[in-house]
Amino acid sequence: MPKNASKKPVDRETTVVLMNEKKWYKPSKKAKNEATVKHWKTAHEYATENPMRFWEEAACDLKWYRKWKVTHAEKKKHFHQWFLGGKTNVVLNALDRHMGTPTENKVAIIWESDSGESRKITYKELDIEVCKMANGLRGLGVKKGDRVAIYLQNTPEIAISMLACAKIGAMHSVVYAGFSAHALRDRIDDAEAKLLITSDVGYRSGKTIDMYSLCAEAVKGAKSIKKMVIVKREKSTKKQNKTRDIWFHELQKGQSEDCNTEMMDAEDPLFVLYTSGTTSKPKGVVHVHGGYQVGVNRTLKWVMDLKEDDIYWCSADPGWITGHSYIIYGPLMAGVTTVMFEGAPNYPKPDRLWKLVQKHKVTIFYTAPTLIRALMRFGDEWVTKHDLSSLRLLGSVGEPINPEAWRWYHRVVGKKKLPIMDTWWQTETGMFMITPLPSMPLKAGSATLPFPGIEADVVDKKGQPVKVGEGGYLVIKSPWPSMIRTIFNNPKRFIKTYWKEIPGYYLTGDLAHKDKDGYFWIQGRSDDVLSIAGHRIGNAEIESAIVSHPDAAEAAVIGKPHPIKGESAKAFVILKKGVKGNDKLIKKLKKQIRKMLGPIAVTDEIDFVTKLPKTRSGKIMRRVLKAQELGQKLGDTSALAD
Ligand code: PRX
Repeated sequence: MPKNASKKPVDRETTVVLMNEKKWYKPSKKAKNEATVKHWKTAHEYATENPMRFWEEAACDLKWYRKWKVTHAEKKKHFHQWFLGGKTNVVLNALDRHMGTPTENKVAIIWESDSGESRKITYKELDIEVCKMANGLRGLGVKKGDRVAIYLQNTPEIAISMLACAKIGAMHSVVYAGFSAHALRDRIDDAEAKLLITSDVGYRSGKTIDMYSLCAEAVKGAKSIKKMVIVKREKSTKKQNKTRDIWFHELQKGQSEDCNTEMMDAEDPLFVLYTSGTTSKPKGVVHVHGGYQVGVNRTLKWVMDLKEDDIYWCSADPGWITGHSYIIYGPLMAGVTTVMFEGAPNYPKPDRLWKLVQKHKVTIFYTAPTLIRALMRFGDEWVTKHDLSSLRLLGSVGEPINPEAWRWYHRVVGKKKLPIMDTWWQTETGMFMITPLPSMPLKAGSATLPFPGIEADVVDKKGQPVKVGEGGYLVIKSPWPSMIRTIFNNPKRFIKTYWKEIPGYYLTGDLAHKDKDGYFWIQGRSDDVLSIAGHRIGNAEIESAIVSHPDAAEAAVIGKPHPIKGESAKAFVILKKGVKGNDKLIKKLKKQIRKMLGPIAVTDEIDFVTKLPKTRSGKIMRRVLKAQELGQKLGDTSALAD
C-alpha cells in the first residue's frame, strides 16, 4: 500500500488516496500579467473574509431593474434565496444592455453546421430574432412561469428559443436532442410543458435525423402540450398536424422586432434542467434569474478570463448545464463571441475541432476529458497540422481529467504554454465551483481550489474534515448565488438528495481528497466507489492509472463481490488505435496499476472492449457495466447514449 494511504478508513467511510501527482505547472509571466485576476491569493482571501460583499460586488457587474434589498436569506431550511427584492432578467444582461452600445454590431454567435457551413449573428440580429420569437410565444399564450420544452440540436434556434422564453418569464426545459421519445415524454410530463420547440430534422455526421417523428411520438397523449413549434430545415418537409404544429419562421413572421423584457423577481425561476445522472432517475433542477446570472457571469469572466475580443468556444451541447451557463448565458452576458457547432467532433475527420479553432481563430477552448481521450486515440498529427496559435486558454469539464490526458492537452493542444482550467461543478451548482484561475499554478488532474466565495471541503460520513492523504465526501459548506433552488415539483427529494446525508452541508455525491497544498482531486462519484479489503477506492484513480499506459485509451472500473476482499476490481479497457489486446498486455496494464497506485488497486480482471456505456453527455455509466456483469436489472437507462 502506498505511504500516503491511511490504514483504517472504513469506519468513517473515507476513501484511500493512491494517486500522487506532484509536478507544478506555473503560469507564464505574460499569462499572469494579462489575467483578469492577477493575484489569485488576494482574491481568495478577500472573498473568504467577506463572501457576502464579494457576491454583492459580483452582482453589481450586472444590470438590475431594481436593486436587491437582502443579499442572502434561508427562507425555509435548505431553501436559500439571493438578492431578494431585486428585479432583473437574465436577458436584460445577455442582450438588452448591449443594445445601443458598440457590442450590438459584434458577432454574438458563430455557428458551424454539420455540413461545414458557418453563420454569423450579431448581437443586434440576435436580439431581433429573440424579440420576434418572444412575441410569437406570447401570441401562443405562453405566460410568465409556464414551461416550454426545447428539443433542438446545437443550432442558433436553440439559443433564440431559450432567450425568448427567459425574456417573457417562461421557464425553458431543454432536453438534449439525443434522448429517446420516451425520455423526452417523461421530462415533458414532469415539467408539464405547454409547448415543445423542435425541428423537422437534425444532422449529425452527415446523417439526417428525423426529429419531428420522434417529437410527435413523444407528445402523443402528453396532456400539457398545446403546440409544437418546428424549425424547418428541409425544403421538402410538410407540416403534419394542422391544429398542433406551427413553423418557427411562421411564428416569427410579422412579429414586432421589439418586445418588452419581463421584469422578474431575482428568485423567479429561469429554467428547469433534468440531470441525466449516471445512477438515478432524472431530477428537474431549478435555477432562478438573479443568483444564476451573478454566479455564471463572475465565474466565466474570472476563470475563462474573458476579454472583449475573445472568440470563445465551449464544445458542449446547449442541452446540458455547461451549454446553458457557458455557451449561451455566460458569454452573451460578457458580450463576447460564442461558437456553437452542430454534429460530431470526429466528423468528417478527427480534426474537426482543431480545424474550426484555426478557421474562427478561437482564443478560448473549453471541452470534456472524454473528448480529449477519444481524440488522443487518433494521434497528435490531427492536431499539429492546424495553426492553433490563436488559442490562449484551455478548459476541461465533466469528469476527472486523468493526468495523462491533461498532459496531452497541455503539450499537444496548448504547446506547453496554455493554462488549463479544470472546472469542477454540476447541473445543481449552475456555475464553476472548484476551479483554477489563470494566474494560479496547476497540477495535472487537479481542479485546484474552490472559486473565491465558495466554501468546499472533504469530510467523512459525520461531516468531520478528513486528513491530508484521506479521501471522503465532497461537500459545499455555505450557500452560493447560483445554487439549485429545488427539484421541480419535488422539494422533499431535493432535501433528501442534497441535505440529509451530511447535515448542514450540500452533498455533491462526489468523492475527493485534498493534498498538502489544499488542492482538490476528484475521485469519482460516491456510488461508483469500490471497497477492496476494507479500503474504499475511487474508481477514477484506477481508471487514470490504466490510461496512463500508452496502449490504453479509455477505461471503466467496477467492483464485483469477492469472498475474501469484499470486492474485487474489474476493468473494461478500450485500446488505442491499432493495439491488440492479449494476455501480455493484461499483465502490462496490471503492472502499470501496481506502479502508479500500489498492489491494493490492481484489478483482478481486465476485459478489452471497443465501446463503453456512456450517458449522452459522455460520462461512463459504470452501473450498467456492473449490472451486466452481475446479471442484474439495468434500471433507468434513459440517459444511456447507445
Ligand atoms: O462527478 C462530477 C463530474 O460531473 C458531475 C456533474 O455532472 P453534470 O451535472 O452533468 O454537470 C456536468 C458539467 C458541469 C460532478 O458531480 N464532474 C464535472 N466536472 C468535473 C467532474 N469531475 C471531475 N472533474 C471535473 N472538472
